[in-house]
Amino acid sequence: MIRTERLTKYFGSTQALKSVSFEIQKGEIVGFLGRNGAGKTTLMRVLTSYLPASSGTVMIDGIDVLKHSLAVRQKIGYLPENPPLYPNMTVRDYIRFAAQLKDVPAKRICAQVDKVLNECYLRNVARKPISTLSKGYQQRVGIAQAIVNDPQILILDEPTNGLDPVQIQRIRELIKNLEEERTVIISTHILSEIEQIAQRVLIIKDGEIVADDTLNNLLCDDQGWRQSLEEVFLRLNQ
Ligand SMILES: Nc1ncnc2c1ncn2[C@@H]1O[C@H](COP(=O)(O)OP(=O)(O)OP(=O)(O)O)[C@@H](O)[C@H]1O
Ligand SMILES: [Mg+2]
Repeated sequence: MIRTERLTKYFGSTQALKSVSFEIQKGEIVGFLGRNGAGKTTLMRVLTSYLPASSGTVMIDGIDVLKHSLAVRQKIGYLPENPPLYPNMTVRDYIRFAAQLKDVPAKRICAQVDKVLNECYLRNVARKPISTLSKGYQQRVGIAQAIVNDPQILILDEPTNGLDPVQIQRIRELIKNLEEERTVIISTHILSEIEQIAQRVLIIKDGEIVADDTLNNLLCDDQGWRQSLEEVFLRLNQ
């Protein structure tokens, strides 16, 4: 479903991605972990075609992201680190607008907008301008726009950032309960979130992948003892 080959990204002389290669199959839920500045957001922006790689390729469902960025963007639901919300629009109008941009058929728009307003617990603020919402509510609007077209691939950059504990749990449930064939990539600094949601983990350090394995394999050491994800993460990031 998603395949990258030797992706690199330079910002001036800073190398943010160093020959990143991996493959993600349809239906997998994969967690991206890494310290601040490791390259998670950069990698997600390259995967979603919002940023061109300096070299290397990204194929999504057999399509080269660089050559067909519009087609790719329609397949993907993307929650950026800082979602570009339109502050003067009401929540409902904005989600409707996002659905139109993503070519949701006109007949289905109303139903889809209602569905995601429910799923993201936004019904009570649907008529409010986005600028009047608290940070956590704005984050939920970002999630709602990412899922409004039922995308096959969801790429979520720290989706629970800024949410209260009840909402964190709800959004995790929402992600876990997406239909089985959905492919999900999620970045987070909350390690327990990965343990709850993901089956597979990619750990990125200084632009390189230092671990790519199932959660189970990663947590089992050579002698068969189970370690915590925190222990594994700290050891790999020493
Ligand atoms: N637009 C940019 N211009 C210059 N450098 C950038 C830009 N975007 C990212 N970088 C650099 O690329 C590296 C990776 O940044 P990135 O935002 O991908 O990290 P991250 O893993 O998402 O970190 P965080 O956990 O803080 O969100 C950092 O060194 C960062 O300073
Ligand atoms: Mg980031």
